[in-house]
Amino acid sequence: MLKIAIQKSGRLFTDSINLLKDCGIKVNNGKDQLKVAVSGFDAEVLFLRNSDIPRYLEDGVADIAIIGENVITEKQADVAILEKLGFSKCRLSLAIPKGHNYQDITSLDGKKIATSYPNTLTDFLNRHGVSASIHRISGSVEIAPNIGLADAICDLVSSGSTLFKNGLEEKDIILKSEACLAANKKSLEIYGAQISELQFRIQAVLKGRNNKYILFNIPNDKIEEASKILPVLKSATILPLMAEGWSSLHSVISEEDFWEVIGKLKVCGAEGILVVPIEKMVI
Ligand code: PRP
Repeated sequence: MLKIAIQKSGRLFTDSINLLKDCGIKVNNGKDQLKVAVSGFDAEVLFLRNSDIPRYLEDGVADIAIIGENVITEKQADVAILEKLGFSKCRLSLAIPKGHNYQDITSLDGKKIATSYPNTLTDFLNRHGVSASIHRISGSVEIAPNIGLADAICDLVSSGSTLFKNGLEEKDIILKSEACLAANKKSLEIYGAQISELQFRIQAVLKGRNNKYILFNIPNDKIEEASKILPVLKSATILPLMAEGWSSLHSVISEEDFWEVIGKLKVCGAEGILVVPIEKMVI
């Protein structure tokens, strides 16, 4: 049976469960149960420690996983990344105490850097010809400069609030990451059809999340102008209103273009603009 690994606890946990749920896969997890059956899909879910997932995936203990790209890179796991999932976006960055001198990465030559990402950091320093001593710690990395353990840190940054609270300044981004769907390479052959089905469902959910259904009223003589503003899938749906000379236009717009499109539509004469979330989108 297809085994899907997700984080046992941590930042990806809730979003991973929600994504599976939106894909029609209900995880029936009891407390402390690490391997559970699911309904709505022929699979079982393994709850694993974040840092262990890449190795379990590479070894085929799990066939697919929802995991941060940063962990795959750090563990140098030979797995296939199938989809970026649009959540848990973060970056792995170098930071130093506020006010300290930093021109570029060479400023860290001969310095001590604390991190939970020694492999990714070593690779980055080597690529830039910088020699620094790496102090490996597994958590609360941001405290290291304040207690004299290191001159700089290399850690994940999301909102930047942990850096700020600890008097640190982000100086260089080593990599950008988000949650992804990754697979064991052999499992791609064994469970090809099931994995494709899961990918299909995930894509439909992600497209839905990234788009909005929009409907508004517009005078008939403005329909053409309004249609040009809409980055439509095929072409906008036009329905006549009871009120003489008016129509209702329906379309789909991406979250990205949203405010710009709404602004232009208002200028064009659109009224009663309604925006509705889309649950799933198959195109
Ligand atoms: C991560 C990371 C940083 C923090 C950054 O820790 O290690 O400490 O989040 O987030 P921010 O930029 O939004 O403040 P997390 O809380 O996930 O726990 P961890 O220490 O176990 O990695």
